[in-house]
This record gives sequence, C-alpha cells and structure tokens, in this order.
Amino acid sequence: MSPTEGASSTAPVISSRSAIAQINHGHLLHNYTLLNIQAGSTDIMAVVKANAYGHGMESIATSLHLAGCTHFGVTDAQEGLALRQHLTMQSSTHHADITPLSGLFSQHDASLACRANLSPVITEPQHICWLQAADFHGHVWIKIDSGMHRLGAIDPAALILQCREAGISICGLMSHLACADEPEHPMNQLQLETFIQCCETIAPELPRSLLNSAGMISMPEHHMDVVRPGIALYGIEPVAGNTLGLKPVMTLLGSIMQLRDIPAGAAISYGATFIAPKAMRLATVSLGYADGVPRGLSGIGSVSINGISCPIIGRICMDYSMVDVTHMDAALGDLVEFWGEQHPASAIASQLDTISYTLFTGVGARVQRVNGI
Ligand SMILES: Cc1ncc(COP(=O)(O)O)c(C=O)c1O
Repeated sequence: MSPTEGASSTAPVISSRSAIAQINHGHLLHNYTLLNIQAGSTDIMAVVKANAYGHGMESIATSLHLAGCTHFGVTDAQEGLALRQHLTMQSSTHHADITPLSGLFSQHDASLACRANLSPVITEPQHICWLQAADFHGHVWIKIDSGMHRLGAIDPAALILQCREAGISICGLMSHLACADEPEHPMNQLQLETFIQCCETIAPELPRSLLNSAGMISMPEHHMDVVRPGIALYGIEPVAGNTLGLKPVMTLLGSIMQLRDIPAGAAISYGATFIAPKAMRLATVSLGYADGVPRGLSGIGSVSINGISCPIIGRICMDYSMVDVTHMDAALGDLVEFWGEQHPASAIASQLDTISYTLFTGVGARVQRVNGI
C-alpha cells in the first residue's frame, strides 16, 4: 500500500511527530488589552514581524485585528503582502495599516508595497525612487537614527521633500531605542531628546513613534502618536521590576516517545557527556534543536512533565532530548513542556544568557502551531 493511500486529498498535511507550539489567543488578547490600557489614547502598531516572533503571523494578526487593532508592523514587503492577502480573505470590514519595518530592498518590493497598499519605513532616497517607479501614492514612515546607529535616514529633511515632490504621503517620523529595557540607561534620555529635537526641526506637524514594549512601560509620558509593542504581546514582561501581569502566549510541547530504566554508568546521548551516577529512569522526548530547543540547554535545562520539573540530561539532539524522570510517574505519550505556562521562556532565556525573542523566533518550521484559547 502506498503511504498516501486512504488519505483524503483535502486533509491538511500534519506531521505525525509530536512537536507543537500551542498558541493561546485568550492570553494574546489579555496582553493586548493591558497594553491598550497602558497606551491610553496612543495608537498601537502591533509588531508581528518574523512570523509574529515565531507564533504564526496570520492567526496572531487576525485575533488582534478582530480585537480592534488596525496597525501592524511586519518585516518586509513580502510579509506585508502575505498579511494583506490574509486579512482580505478574512473579509475584514475595517482597514489595516501594514508597515514593513525593515523597509524596501528592491524595486520589486516597492511594487509589492504598491499592490498591497503597505506603508513601508524608508531611510534612503533610492527607496523613494523605487516607489515612484512603481507609481506608489500611499504612505511611508521616515526612520530617524536617534543614536542606536542601526537604521535611519542620513538626511531626513531631504527625504521629506523628495516624498512631497513624488506625491507620497508621510505617516510620520519613527525611531527606535537601543536600551529601553534598562530604564535607567542614559541612552534613553539622549535618544528621546535627539528624536524630539529632530522632529521639531524638520517636521513638527508629523506624527511620531519611538517606543517598543519596554519603552511603553518605562516612558509612559512619551508615548507620542504610535507605540510599537512586540514582545509584550507575546507575554514577556519587557522591564524587570515593572510588571504588567502579561500571560505567556506560546507553550512549546513535545511528548515522551520512549521510557527505559538505565543502570549506573550508562552514557546518554552524543559525546557521552552524561554518565548515569545511579540507576535512573530515562524519557526520550520528541523535540530537539531542529525544533528550536536551544542546544545550550544540554545538561543544564529542564522541562515540565505533568507539572513536575525534570532535568534534561546529555546533549540535545536534532530531533530528541533525553530527560530524567526517575522522581516521577511518567507514561509514554505524556506531554513535555519546554517553555510556556509551567516553565517561563524568560527564565530559560536568562539561564542561557539570551533573550526570549531568540527562543520564540527559533521555533522550527516543522513545529505545528496549534491555535486555541
Ligand atoms: C523598529 C521596531 N519597532 C518595534 C519593535 C518591537 O520591539 P519589542 O518586541 O521589544 O516590543 C521592534 C523589534 O525589534 C523594532 O525593530
């Protein structure tokens, strides 16, 4: 019998491997509500770039859009087009502004921006030339470098002039803080002053947008016209010691594929870096580094099984991790949480000296996103 025999031609292709990112839309809306309260009368541009930080852009944006969000920040024109097509398919009655935050990379991108009615960020005269050639008469954001030295127009006043001559409208002026998650860092004040001064000098009448999630929380008096939260939507508290009560949106789950008792002295996984100090019960779990489990957790991380913490032992493999379940009753098929409700992603990120952004965006394409409430 062929492997596809008996399969319905319309059935979605779902991997039989147990590798799931459960996406809790109730928590997403809880977080969005808290951020809306925080934002007050300031507009929110929900940052859903990089596949909504690994959570699945289309379903995340749909939920937010239904909850009233009308601004979305994506990575580039390709993501923008995908989101526009998706929202159009949902036959949404209210319009959505979609901003490619990394702007334009080519003439083709400018054509996509025109076709999908995107409002890209621009930083270069060339971007406006591309837009003109695509007969674009929509809106753009002009990005100013207020001190991070990542992206920003070298001569924003000249870009404004060029836009006006080309019949391109300007949504506003934007910049980005380098140290917003450290409220006491002197860069914040410096960048704020530089941005305000630049706006006042070149176009005081244009709307302004400076703050990401952390900035929204630590600089509430400077929300300006549009704030751009990303990570807070997904449930990570962006500023230590100033928490909002956000809830985790993603729970990364595998399951127990095999259980076995191993004797003292048995070596576990590649490199035989873990030698059992005593007789132990070992579970082999269906998630590995190709799913986004950081290999750095080998031998130092833990997972949660039925609410009980279990150490990861030996090296994490591409498709598997081994965990110690000696201290609990574990059964074949039990779900294993790598991060989520039981086991905060932020704690794992700190353990690895990284940020939760890298955990979420690292979740592999073969991990099935399962939406629920
Ligand atoms: C320009 C810009 N605005 C907003 C954000 C959202 O930042 P956060 O996820 O820290 O809220 C990002 C994220 O990298 C960004 O690059």
